[in-house]
Amino acid sequence: MTQIWTSNRTFHIPVLKDQIVQFLNIRPSGIYLDGTLGLAGHAAEIISILSKKGAFVGFDRDEEAIKRCKTSLPASSKCHLVHASYDQFPQFLESINIKGVDGILLDLGISSMQLDSPERGFSYRMDGPLDMRFNRKNSITAKDILNTKDDTYLTEIFRKYGEERNAKKIAKKIVNIRMTFPLTTTSDLKNIIQSVIGDSFLTKTLSRIFQALRIVVNDELTILKNFLNIFADYLNNKGRITIISYHSLEDRLVKQKFKELEKGCVCPPDIPICQCGIKPSLKVLTKRPIVPSEEEVRRNRRARAAKLRVAEKI
Ligand SMILES: C[S@@+](CC[C@H](N)C(=O)[O-])C[C@H]1O[C@@H](n2cnc3c(N)ncnc32)[C@H](O)[C@@H]1O
Repeated sequence: MTQIWTSNRTFHIPVLKDQIVQFLNIRPSGIYLDGTLGLAGHAAEIISILSKKGAFVGFDRDEEAIKRCKTSLPASSKCHLVHASYDQFPQFLESINIKGVDGILLDLGISSMQLDSPERGFSYRMDGPLDMRFNRKNSITAKDILNTKDDTYLTEIFRKYGEERNAKKIAKKIVNIRMTFPLTTTSDLKNIIQSVIGDSFLTKTLSRIFQALRIVVNDELTILKNFLNIFADYLNNKGRITIISYHSLEDRLVKQKFKELEKGCVCPPDIPICQCGIKPSLKVLTKRPIVPSEEEVRRNRRARAAKLRVAEKI
């Protein structure tokens, strides 16, 4: 099992690593794309199977992740590490004259390094600035959202992206408190949430609210939708797409898009002969999502919400 030390000496264990390697069905001379490099746990496995004829392209929106990958992954003219959002991959492939790839991986969400870095503001467990940007060059932070948006907006995002039952109460309290002093740290937010809901279910509520904010700060669902609309055009015949998601809304988007591409035709059901001419372009290989074993979750708590879906280009 690949394990990588993170900055503060905790282990990073790639989620569903064996299943990813198996499903990607890696050909040593193939071209593989990892849209979410993180600590390169999966990337290192993929690269270790590639021969000199193969190529690897990895993306991360986080510059720190790219810097780390540059030191941890073998330097090679066939290994491209790109600081950009994964939905920008077509532009990069075109720039290096690659028309299609044999496999794609997305392991969505946040890396253990980001979560364990207080200065990034992703975690309610450590005090830090309310930042939460994957790309620190982007302008909008969690602090901006919490201090400028009205309670209706905050309630909606806590409900929609955090599925939080106390969304309205928490949003109102935030708006109330910030009239006296602006929220600047993760502890400010944590204290407000605690004052609203007390100690029972506190951890779950904190996770849900922090997750909702992270999704909004990084516009994660829009980026996933953009990617899902284009990836199939860049998969070679029999090439595979593997996506690990950690949020029900992400998983639903992946499931629906795979289904749509497997079906092809979009004509209304009462038309006897297809008029649209859209042919199926994917075969779904996981009718139900693959989830980590109890043993994997025991070793790596962060894997517990993971759902893997895989499809093959036809
Ligand atoms: C769960 S981690 C990936 C872990 C990785 N598979 C590994 O084994 O080390 C998710 C990574 O995706 C990155 N990320 C999130 N959204 C992204 C996007 N739109 N484009 C590129 N990278 C993104 C995050 O910065 C984070 O480093």
